[in-house]
Amino acid sequence: MKISVIGCGYLGAVHASAMAELGHDVIGIDVDERKIGELAAGRPPFFEPGLPEILTSATASGRLRFSTDMADAADAEVHFLAVGTPQTAGSHAADLRFVDAAFEGLVPHLADGALVVGKSTVPVGTATRLAARLAEVAPHAALAWNPEFLREGFAVKDTIEPDRLVYGVADDAAAATLDEIYRAALDAGTPRIVTDYATAELVKVAANAFLATKISFINAMAEIAEATGADVTQLADAIGHDARIGRRFLNAGVGFGGGCLPKDIRAFSARAEELGRGDAVAFLKEVDAINLRRRQRVVDLAVEAMGGSVNERRVAVLGVTFKPDSDDVRDSPALDVAVQLKGLGADVIATDPEGLANARLRHPQLAYEASTTEALRGADLVVLVTEWSEYRELDPATVRDLVASHTVIDGRNVLDPTSWRSAGWTYHGLGRP
Ligand code: UDX
Repeated sequence: MKISVIGCGYLGAVHASAMAELGHDVIGIDVDERKIGELAAGRPPFFEPGLPEILTSATASGRLRFSTDMADAADAEVHFLAVGTPQTAGSHAADLRFVDAAFEGLVPHLADGALVVGKSTVPVGTATRLAARLAEVAPHAALAWNPEFLREGFAVKDTIEPDRLVYGVADDAAAATLDEIYRAALDAGTPRIVTDYATAELVKVAANAFLATKISFINAMAEIAEATGADVTQLADAIGHDARIGRRFLNAGVGFGGGCLPKDIRAFSARAEELGRGDAVAFLKEVDAINLRRRQRVVDLAVEAMGGSVNERRVAVLGVTFKPDSDDVRDSPALDVAVQLKGLGADVIATDPEGLANARLRHPQLAYEASTTEALRGADLVVLVTEWSEYRELDPATVRDLVASHTVIDGRNVLDPTSWRSAGWTYHGLGRP
């Protein structure tokens, strides 16, 4: 099929490349000329495993093109809206400026029978509003909402082999068009839920709210574990064996961050309040608060470990991204901890395999070091905040020879306390004795 993808950020660039990989004829559109230039040259403007390979092969074959001109999308049969919905300062509601601008920019170019498919995470009610607008200004086109569940780091796989497909549609024709696009996944047995607009929009925010709640639940247990001497990692293993609970997303640590979970739960609360149902999701404010307390806990542990003050102490911060296998530092707990420690006078050296360029742009006041060894050299305190495999695999004896003082805070509970302690380290995990 002929497809356009409007918005070429993490979501759109991956979606466009994956659709081309599946054999569709795709054009990616974005207002950012630099980004479009990079993508057209086959270079992703961000780090995502597997993306360079499919982007290069699709651009080389001509199945994937990029443009800053919306008119170049005119001959597409299906248009995916994949622009961002950032958090509005103050209200925390989702900012729909980019969705509305992309939609209005697209309208004059819609061919007869074209299908506009929303992928962005939006407040429930947005699709109904856009469908009403479409009926007024382009009644020859239709709208569907098809939320995206991809995880950064696994984005290519999650797009090509999704867990499930959700279509919010007004009629069978739109569902049939989406079936044609996702034929390969459907043939492989991917479950597909066809529903109305509101349910499709809610599926996405409900899924993210559930995941965030699961993480904050285990982090709340970590707080109790800290008060009682229990071990939250063993607790998670034990409750995770109950298939109704499941072990995934029960890793206690410095908490969740990124461009989705934090802003999505806040936007969901804001939307529920607008709907007069704020009470129904009041617990999400607690989920957010527990999450932010964990960042503070790491900072407090650092201060305690340094005898009451980190002032002028050299702290090696391992990780700046919100999770491994990504260069994304949006709402990153790791970077937040680094900034707070710096604010307390610490001599912070932050390192990360992929995130330093983005971190520098956001927080130029921090010192960065690309080499893990150099970041560790002379440190009074080591704080692991993003569980990149190279940090998980650090050898405590080797690191011991680099640092000035042997104290480590494992903000992701990924180091083995026994081997670090037996190599002479003072080890602090989160929610572990
Ligand atoms: C998330 C959803 O998983 C995805 O389905 C949705 O489409 C977008 O938002 P993503 O933001 O890429 O994806 O990251 P995810 O893997 O969900 O991790 C989110 C955050 O939670 C990370 O900061 C991660 O470190 C943290 N996390 C995750 C935990 O602290 N503990 C866990 O057990 C799992």
